[in-house]
Amino acid sequence: MSPPAANVRVGVIGAGLMGREVASAFGRWFALLDSPVRPELTAVCDVNAAALDWFRQVPTVRHFDIDHRALLAREDVDVVYVAVPHDRHEAIYMDALRAGKDLLAEKPFGIDLAAACRVRAEAARLGRFVRVSSEFPFLPGAQRAFQIAASGELGRIIEIRAAFLHSSDLDPAKPANWKRQNIHCGEAGVMNDLGLHVAHVPLRLGWKPSKLHASLQKIHRFRPDGRGGTVACDTWDNAVLHTTVDIGGEPVPMTLEMKRLAPTETNTWIFEALGTDRGVRFSTKEPKTLCTYRRDKEQSWQRTDLGFEMPFKAITGGIFEPGFPDILMQMWAAFLAERAGLLGGRFGCAPPDEAVSQHELWAGALVSQRDQSVVSI
Ligand SMILES: NC(=O)c1ccc[n+]([C@@H]2O[C@H](COP(=O)([O-])OP(=O)(O)OC[C@H]3O[C@@H](n4cnc5c(N)ncnc54)[C@H](O)[C@@H]3O)[C@@H](O)[C@H]2O)c1
Repeated sequence: MSPPAANVRVGVIGAGLMGREVASAFGRWFALLDSPVRPELTAVCDVNAAALDWFRQVPTVRHFDIDHRALLAREDVDVVYVAVPHDRHEAIYMDALRAGKDLLAEKPFGIDLAAACRVRAEAARLGRFVRVSSEFPFLPGAQRAFQIAASGELGRIIEIRAAFLHSSDLDPAKPANWKRQNIHCGEAGVMNDLGLHVAHVPLRLGWKPSKLHASLQKIHRFRPDGRGGTVACDTWDNAVLHTTVDIGGEPVPMTLEMKRLAPTETNTWIFEALGTDRGVRFSTKEPKTLCTYRRDKEQSWQRTDLGFEMPFKAITGGIFEPGFPDILMQMWAAFLAERAGLLGGRFGCAPPDEAVSQHELWAGALVSQRDQSVVSI
């Protein structure tokens, strides 16, 4: 018998970086005041048995599996979160859907566009609730920027920039992992890795490019393999997409940047939209601060420090600063509330359509890079 809607039993497949973050978010769920649904982490799976050990301290976890099919066969799992390398996405997502589970998938939602389309079709056929992980829009600054951009107050939009920037790959001695190899990460490389973070808010605003030109770069082509040797790294490291979006019948330039080698940037998420009447800019480089301007006789940017203004209320003091663990919780609260039909007008997680749309951009970017052409999407 299913438990009441207020309690949802979650299984995690992939007990790496993100799998642990999710366990941590659930572990302090009592910090949320108005989440209508409470997750309980009941099962965890990883092919690497040693990765399961960390989860033994999580009191609610009762199943430790090394084969995802064993986890998916468990009755006390309603929803699965899958955080595995990209080449494993499609097979495990399909197995999860066919096992009757709802799914919070990790980006990029399959290794490429074709895989994403197949998973979306299967989810629709089976009627499963599926969303894709993208937590940055849940930051207060991102929420405000989204609301202002959606309000129409910007006037005629002049230009848009969205970016997600890392810098640790500048270090040539940083060992490679699966994200640096096409076979595991996918041909789209850094776009598969960072792209949904960049595309999510523009796509939600309906700003889907009609054409693009891509500049893709491979910078460090070999890295230590962590075992005393070196290994070839063949993924695109940096991607800049110059796109055109049709907004109100006018072509608007929108730049999408995804970079692993962006000096000084550690997980910097940026969204900026400039219009003839107003403008908005938010960057996690200044995580509290929303920048806006309004056209006036004299023009200037106004800086507003935001507090803990989250979609789901929390015990956290209103002037305190939010961080990554907070927005991960908010994203999960949105996923679970929407699944229960209780989102109540709040910002929802990325649905399969948005995940497919971002893959269309990355597929177009690969063609643009190969042919040095402008590609219609
Ligand atoms: N939303 C975010 O902010 C964010 C951040 C980082 C990574 N990610 C995404 O999360 C996913 C995982 O990335 P990560 O950084 O956690 O990777 P990771 O390498 O830290 O962890 C992946 C885990 O999956 C396990 N695994 C591999 N194949 C498996 C299988 N068949 N069954 C079960 N477990 C298996 C590995 O042993 C490893 O422990 C990727 O899709 C990545 O793009 C999202």
